[in-house]
Amino acid sequence: MTITTIFLSFLLLLFGLANSESQLNDKEQTVLLKLKQHWQNPPSLSHWQNPLSLSHSNSSHHCNWPEITCTSGTVTQLLLQNKNITQTVPPFICDLKNLTVIDLSFNFIPQEFPKALYNCSKLEDLDLSQNYFNGTIPVDIHRLSGLRHLNLGANDFYGNIPASIGQLTELRTLKLFQCAFNGSFPQEIGNLSKLESLQLAYNVNMTAAELPSSFTELKKLKFLWITASNLNGEIPDTIGEMEALVHLDLSINNLTGKIPSSLFMPKNLSIVYLFRNQLSGEIPRVVEALNIDVIDLSDNKLTGSIPDDFGRLRNMTGLSLFFNQLSGKIPDSIGRLPSLVVLKVFSNNLSGTLPPDFGRYSMLVEFQVADNKLEGKLPEHLCDNEMLVRVVAFNNNLTGELPKSLGNCNGLKIVIVYNNRLSGDIPSGLWTSLNLSVLILSDNSFTGELPQRVATNLSRLEINNNYFSGTIPAGVSSWRNLVVFEASNNLFSGTIPQELTSLPYLTTLFLDQNRLSGSLPPDIMSWKMLNTLNLCRNKISGPIPPELGNLASLTELDLSENQISGQIPPQLGLLRLTLLNLSSNLLNGRIPIQFENDAYANSFLNNIALCASKPTLNIRKCDSEIEPVKSIKHPSQCFVLIICMVAAALLGLLASLFVVRFHCKRKITKSWRSSLKNNFLHKLKYRVQLNIPTYLVKLLCFISFDNSKLLVYEYSKTIDWIGGCIGTVEHQTSQCSPPVKTIEHHSRVGELR
Ligand SMILES: *[C@@H]1O[C@H](CO)[C@@H](O)[C@H](O)[C@H]1NC(C)=O
Ligand SMILES: *[C@@H]1O[C@H](CO)[C@@H](O)[C@H](O)[C@H]1NC(C)=O
Ligand SMILES: *[C@@H]1O[C@H](CO)[C@@H](O)[C@H](O)[C@H]1NC(C)=O
Ligand SMILES: *[C@@H]1O[C@H](CO)[C@@H](O)[C@H](O)[C@H]1NC(C)=O
Ligand SMILES: *[C@@H]1O[C@H](CO)[C@@H](O)[C@H](O)[C@H]1NC(C)=O
Ligand SMILES: *[C@@H]1O[C@H](CO)[C@@H](O)[C@H](O)[C@H]1NC(C)=O
Ligand SMILES: *[C@@H]1O[C@H](CO)[C@@H](O)[C@H](O)[C@H]1NC(C)=O
Ligand SMILES: *[C@@H]1O[C@H](CO)[C@@H](O)[C@H](O)[C@H]1NC(C)=O
Ligand SMILES: *[C@@H]1O[C@H](CO)[C@@H](O)[C@H](O)[C@H]1NC(C)=O
Ligand SMILES: *[C@@H]1O[C@H](CO)[C@@H](O)[C@H](O)[C@H]1NC(C)=O
Ligand SMILES: *[C@@H]1O[C@H](CO)[C@@H](O)[C@H](O)[C@H]1NC(C)=O
Ligand SMILES: *[C@@H]1O[C@H](CO)[C@@H](O)[C@H](O)[C@H]1NC(C)=O
Repeated sequence: MTITTIFLSFLLLLFGLANSESQLNDKEQTVLLKLKQHWQNPPSLSHWQNPLSLSHSNSSHHCNWPEITCTSGTVTQLLLQNKNITQTVPPFICDLKNLTVIDLSFNFIPQEFPKALYNCSKLEDLDLSQNYFNGTIPVDIHRLSGLRHLNLGANDFYGNIPASIGQLTELRTLKLFQCAFNGSFPQEIGNLSKLESLQLAYNVNMTAAELPSSFTELKKLKFLWITASNLNGEIPDTIGEMEALVHLDLSINNLTGKIPSSLFMPKNLSIVYLFRNQLSGEIPRVVEALNIDVIDLSDNKLTGSIPDDFGRLRNMTGLSLFFNQLSGKIPDSIGRLPSLVVLKVFSNNLSGTLPPDFGRYSMLVEFQVADNKLEGKLPEHLCDNEMLVRVVAFNNNLTGELPKSLGNCNGLKIVIVYNNRLSGDIPSGLWTSLNLSVLILSDNSFTGELPQRVATNLSRLEINNNYFSGTIPAGVSSWRNLVVFEASNNLFSGTIPQELTSLPYLTTLFLDQNRLSGSLPPDIMSWKMLNTLNLCRNKISGPIPPELGNLASLTELDLSENQISGQIPPQLGLLRLTLLNLSSNLLNGRIPIQFENDAYANSFLNNIALCASKPTLNIRKCDSEIEPVKSIKHPSQCFVLIICMVAAALLGLLASLFVVRFHCKRKITKSWRSSLKNNFLHKLKYRVQLNIPTYLVKLLCFISFDNSKLLVYEYSKTIDWIGGCIGTVEHQTSQCSPPVKTIEHHSRVGELR
């Protein structure tokens, strides 16, 4: 053999080797290109091209395609998340023999579970989540015996989860959330002894069943998420033996009985969500899990007091216990927790004084303690760290002044403290607090005057039933974004300034039961949105400005018990008023013809010099000598009149069912308030209009005529619900419309629902 031959054969050998490897590569690439073709060449895979073909000299070897991971030159991972794939998974995918990871999540893949994947014998990680897979999970799923991570969540799988899933003994992660399963969770899942994460949440169609007790044998499980999956019965006592547990979420189910006393034992426990169940009894007293970050037990039937041990949770950022029946004092130690960001304990029976140190040692953002029996002062240091956004403390028995720290608190958006016994002046900086949008101080004993300027975003200012005094400042024209201004029953004096009429977004204005005097402003500068104007029981004199008749949105007008004189401007007759009260004034002349029906029978009482053309009203008939006030011609006035009369008849009927408030609004509201147990259904009323107010409670009926429509409904105008809604509304969003594509990213810290 010559050196040449040796050299040649060496070359040949080399070439041969190289060739066989490239053949292998070619083969894998061929499979990939076939996949692309099977999926009808989605644009997202347009860069999958054969580099050897001349026309695509720019494309690279398939191992360099971003969706592909190769190990030692062979394809091991196929990462096709969010590639707009709309076709099935073809059997030849497993011709990529060495695949360990297949991720097809966030596509639009239809049809049943692709059993062909059983041929991918090295598969360890399969993610088919967020697709349109349907049918049942095959009972022989255990043939994927090497699986460590399985995610089938957010698909249309239905039927039973097969027991054989418990034979996938290598599983670390099992995610079967948000499908259409309608059986129950198999006990056998408890056999998956290596499992670290089990996510079964939002399987809303599951047969009601208990949490399988075998699950608590999962000693390596860190993450257990079974929200909204129709669990009932009690939480197994052994739950505290799940020593690795970090994240426990069994919220929004129908769990009953006591919370097992061992619940707070697992040392690494960080998140505990048991909200929205029917849990009763006491909260476990002993807490070993000192790293806890968030506890949310809200919306249950828990009794007893808040455990002192919660005051040891130095890493706790959120404590949410609202909507329970907890009693006793809030432990002072909780006020000193250094990490606390969110405290929501509203709607319980908590009593005693509030811990004085809240806000002092932590970056407190939410402080919600409304609807309890708390007394004493609001914590003085609430906003020391200037992170505070919400203070909600209404319906308690709090006394003293608002904390000074609220006067220097630029993050503050909402302050609701109505119905307490708070007093003193408002800290001056609070009015102008940079982000303040809602300030509700009603039903307290506050004093002081209104400022010239308020926060730019202030949209709701309610200070009814206090001792505020002074005038309505001319600077009120700068309160541009005000929507609701309620200041009934205070000590305001002086005239109503012209500037008040310039507010463009104002819908509700209550200044009744004050000491306002002088004439109403003759020019109305805006009030484009004004819906309700109540100035009753003041000392206002002079005429009714005809311009009131131009306020298209006005539906309630109460000027009763003043000293208003002159004739009623005929323009008022054009308004679609559901409440009109001009009683007890000094008005004279003929009432606008549109008001000559029974709906307005009590609108004009006690005005000696008013008259009407019909004798049936509570007003004397006009003498024929009296020059009739020229009424404004309205198109198809006659027809409107007929409708009004029909409406009036209907409303009259309703009115006999419900109490109608014709007199001074506030007085009646009060008596209603006390007579209604249900604390959010404050007012029951009717109106004829189409713009529906914000807090609609219940639609009763709808009547339609050609050019006029009647909506009859109950609604609540008070904002009691802000506190409640924060919980309720957010709960509902999570239940009623779980986000289709993002549900898995469960919010953790800070954003405590
Ligand atoms: C998926 O398709 C939509 C609409 O056809 C397109 O807007 C989007 O960019 C595509 N996404 C990818 C990753 O190609
Ligand atoms: C070649 O690939 C690069 C990077 O992927 C791209 O920016 C460029 O437009 C491609 N050129 C051609 C001719 O396709
Ligand atoms: C799979 O990988 C092994 C080595 O890990 C290799 O010998 C084999 O050729 C690969 N199979 C394919 C089809 O690429
Ligand atoms: C697996 O591959 C073999 C041979 O290619 C084929 O006969 C069989 O049907 C495949 N199994 C599945 C479940 O697709
Ligand atoms: C799965 O959905 C497809 C439509 O996407 C439907 O044709 C098919 O019948 C469904 N299969 C099952 C088993 O529900
Ligand atoms: C589950 O749903 C499927 C398809 O809707 C139905 O055929 C089956 O009877 C249901 N099973 C149970 C236990 O409700
Ligand atoms: C639950 O079952 C109802 C009634 O069978 C069905 O309309 C609904 O689509 C199911 N929900 C889910 C998420 O599958
Ligand atoms: C799996 O779990 C079931 C029910 O929990 C049990 O009866 C069975 O013995 C377990 N199987 C194995 C192999 O551990
Ligand atoms: C708790 O977490 C730590 C740190 O992650 C870990 O080392 C430890 O093993 C965990 N304890 C348990 C009981 O799992
Ligand atoms: C919750 O469970 C109770 C008692 O087990 C039952 O009466 C009630 O109907 C269940 N509620 C829901 C929404 O499943
Ligand atoms: C709280 O968190 C810190 C760091 O974030 C950690 O060092 C500490 O061990 C945690 N636990 C307690 C009880 O402070
Ligand atoms: C509020 O406190 C006062 C005095 O402490 C008490 O008389 C009153 O009954 C309390 N009111 C309520 C509603 O608890």
